[in-house]
Amino acid sequence: MKRPTPVEALSEAEAAAELATLADEIARADRAYYERDAPVMSDAEYDALRRRNTAIELRFPSLVRPDSPNRRVGAAPAGGFAKLRHGAPMLSLGNVFSAEEFAEWVARARRFLGIQESGFRFVGEPKIDGLSINLTYEHGQFVRGATRGDGLEGEDVTANLRTLATLPRRLKGHAPARIEIRGEVFMTKADFLALNAAQEAAGERLFANPRNAAAGSLRQLDPRITERRPLGLFAYAMGETSERVARTHWEYLERLEAWGFSVNPLSRPLADEAAAAAFQAEMAAQRAGLAYDIDGVVYKIDDLVLQDRLGYVGREPRWATAWKFPAERATTVLEDIVIQVGRTGALTPVARLTPVNVGGVLVTRATLHNEDEIARKDVRIGDTVILQRAGDVIPQILGMIPERRPPHSKPYRFPDHCPACGSLAVRPPGEAVRRCTGGLICPAQAEERLIHFASRPAFDIEGLGEKTIREFMQAGLLHGPADIFALPNHEAEIAAREGWGPLSARNLTRAIEARRRIPLARFIYALGIRRIGEANARLLARHYGSFANWRAQMQQALQIGSEARSDLADIVGIGPAIAQELADFFAEPRNVATLDRLAGLLTIEDAVPEAGGAAPLAGKVVVFTGTLTTMTRPEAKATAERLGAKVTDSVSRRTDLVIAGAEAGSKARRAAELGIRILTEQEWRELAGI
Ligand code: IVH
Repeated sequence: MKRPTPVEALSEAEAAAELATLADEIARADRAYYERDAPVMSDAEYDALRRRNTAIELRFPSLVRPDSPNRRVGAAPAGGFAKLRHGAPMLSLGNVFSAEEFAEWVARARRFLGIQESGFRFVGEPKIDGLSINLTYEHGQFVRGATRGDGLEGEDVTANLRTLATLPRRLKGHAPARIEIRGEVFMTKADFLALNAAQEAAGERLFANPRNAAAGSLRQLDPRITERRPLGLFAYAMGETSERVARTHWEYLERLEAWGFSVNPLSRPLADEAAAAAFQAEMAAQRAGLAYDIDGVVYKIDDLVLQDRLGYVGREPRWATAWKFPAERATTVLEDIVIQVGRTGALTPVARLTPVNVGGVLVTRATLHNEDEIARKDVRIGDTVILQRAGDVIPQILGMIPERRPPHSKPYRFPDHCPACGSLAVRPPGEAVRRCTGGLICPAQAEERLIHFASRPAFDIEGLGEKTIREFMQAGLLHGPADIFALPNHEAEIAAREGWGPLSARNLTRAIEARRRIPLARFIYALGIRRIGEANARLLARHYGSFANWRAQMQQALQIGSEARSDLADIVGIGPAIAQELADFFAEPRNVATLDRLAGLLTIEDAVPEAGGAAPLAGKVVVFTGTLTTMTRPEAKATAERLGAKVTDSVSRRTDLVIAGAEAGSKARRAAELGIRILTEQEWRELAGI
């Protein structure tokens, strides 16, 4: 690792060049973090870049760039959501890392106000690293909500926020004519791990940490996905308001609770700096045991009049700061790099480590993500590596210690063949992941597919977990999913196996027999087709209704350009890329053979449309086009779907209804050509009864 030149030693030209690079790197990291919810560096690396940038700017104020990271907050809203302007800007917080730095922050505030004596009271609140949101209430009614975005305008996630159980639709008691309430949407550590396990089982992308999982869940174009994600919400700040609602921040938190919000129960009023320092120690001690991750404590000066007077400097309030915990780090030896082969053939490098305690958690393994990541960090077997658990539950390998590298070590060579079946492993251009091409002959993939097939959200066969599946595959009792339903014929043989007995073998038989009837959505999910997770399986089941219809349509959809293919790609949430995955699955004759064997052994239940047949739009195919003025597109879609409609993106002969908002263009024209019924927004609201 190259050591950077100390800031004091930089020449002006070097400083200018470095500021340009830092602006680029930080902007890239911001985009990855805020727009794609897929960070490209650890929080610690990011903080280090920002600190370096600030330090250089402080020494060379004349070199501060117009695109300086300190002049921006977050990133501009990504496409897909309407933008909403915040009544008052949403800013971020300065950091302190020690009691000394905290005391300096207090002293600065005092100097700013011209106060000699201390005398500040504070409120301490655990700092959850989630996603900050701005909720607007008018006359007590929740009217809209937005993400922070670039601090001035964020994304309109109103429809998604309405799915949160802890978001009050109406404030209880007296409420101002208009108020912006701010808070944090977050996910607990346990929910994050469970979500990632489900994503992994579905072959869908994994979230790096609870923050990204919360952000990814809230920023869904389909609110029904948000609804299924376990998101929490704590309220903690105020934006624009039409009337004064409290004299102190603590009083404001009490108001929030009275209105029906959850306020973090660990929040506490603090009489002075010493109380703040004690609270910091208390929170640090509690941290590991909390259900959610916190990376520090936010301290706010309690008196709201003082807050107003203190105001802001740049993008940070003078009246609040975040006292961050030191990142938890440890060093240990990387003993080996093992390649795991996933259900869809993805090769994932996993570091096996000499067990080490990092912030109260025993760590033995860490993911190395992919081959580029290993090359970038140049970690090798035998290296002493630096591990960090910052905001993240999963530890990261930050890098290695060059001085401790054993002699003669060689750079790690990522295998280009599958370690399980020896097939070529290829990496498509533009993708980070290398995949085994062994498909159905790869035993590792077969094993993972079977584990998925029997898992809780799929066939849910009790007693047929990972260990048993591996054991039965070794013993030749299981090769593919259809063999599971032949296991009852081998009950005696299973009962005789070591660790088994008549009772456990009988129970397994019963568990298998109980699953001979299966809802279509579960069946589709169980097949383990790449990118067909539970949500997509449900979409398919609802769209096609029966197994026979689905199978027939998928066969026809093999043909690119066929009506069946565009019908499939038109399902909201599916799209052309997932349609291609399905086509790839059905193009493999052995997959279809397995499917048909299973169908012969099982009763696959037809999907029941979510809204009953009596729903006004039951079974209708609806397209929204143009700009709607009374609700967002996601909300309109959700409403239509609640009423039993299928909402698609493009107009075709199968479309029943087009709702044309302002400036509706080609879709409305095409609908008119095809003689499809077109409604105005108002007519649509009447039809929907809203
Ligand atoms: S107050 C102007 N209070 O931290 C003050 N922020 O680094 C605005 N955060 O964007 C924020 N817990 O996402 C505040 N109790 C808390 C917080 C909190 C977490 C997050 C929030 C904000 C970020 C600033």
